Amino acid sequence: MDNRKICEKVVVSEQEIDTIVKELANQINTDYAGEEIVFVSILNGSFMFTSDLMKHITLDCHIDFMQVSTYGNSTNTTGNFVVKKDLSFDVTEKNVIIIEDILDTGYTMKNLIEYFKIKKVKSLKIATMIDKPHRRTEEVHADYVGYTMNEELFIVGYGLDYAQKYRNLPYIGVLGEHLH
Ligand code: IMP
Ligand code: MG
Repeated sequence: MDNRKICEKVVVSEQEIDTIVKELANQINTDYAGEEIVFVSILNGSFMFTSDLMKHITLDCHIDFMQVSTYGNSTNTTGNFVVKKDLSFDVTEKNVIIIEDILDTGYTMKNLIEYFKIKKVKSLKIATMIDKPHRRTEEVHADYVGYTMNEELFIVGYGLDYAQKYRNLPYIGVLGEHLH
């Protein structure tokens, strides 16, 4: 299928993503000058963002991956949080930056934050490519945000999926109605 015809509207273009990612990396390089970082990429959605971001990080760093699933909803805030793939390194006393594709209700992130607090990290920050602040049900905020989306739109591409598809698109867009 032609990649350019999948989305009816492009929300963040490939060129915009490139600029955003470089800016975020520069900010992190400045904020953590002289420090070491463990980046924890949350699979599957953040694989592309992580890869692009890491190319511009000039600090000493480790890169690790986690995969989690959540079954939370607005009426069940203590819902299940399952770690499907755990960390490979000990993060005790480390500066950790969690890398996410999108911060929506914040439920996944709230659980991740609790998880890292138990691990007694030195510091914890959150980087997300997309932030949807209007959708938040949990008190969670990201320290590094690529793009803030205030519209009520479901987006795909650049790691984000619809039923596991379209993660490979190099841009972020709204799926055409005919593809739902
Ligand atoms: P949260 O726990 O509600 O913050 O959920 C975050 C997760 O919901 C993300 O990691 C995505 O998998 C998914 N998600 C939320 N909004 C979108 C979207 O617009 N497109 C694709 N996935 C989304
Ligand atoms: Mg996800």
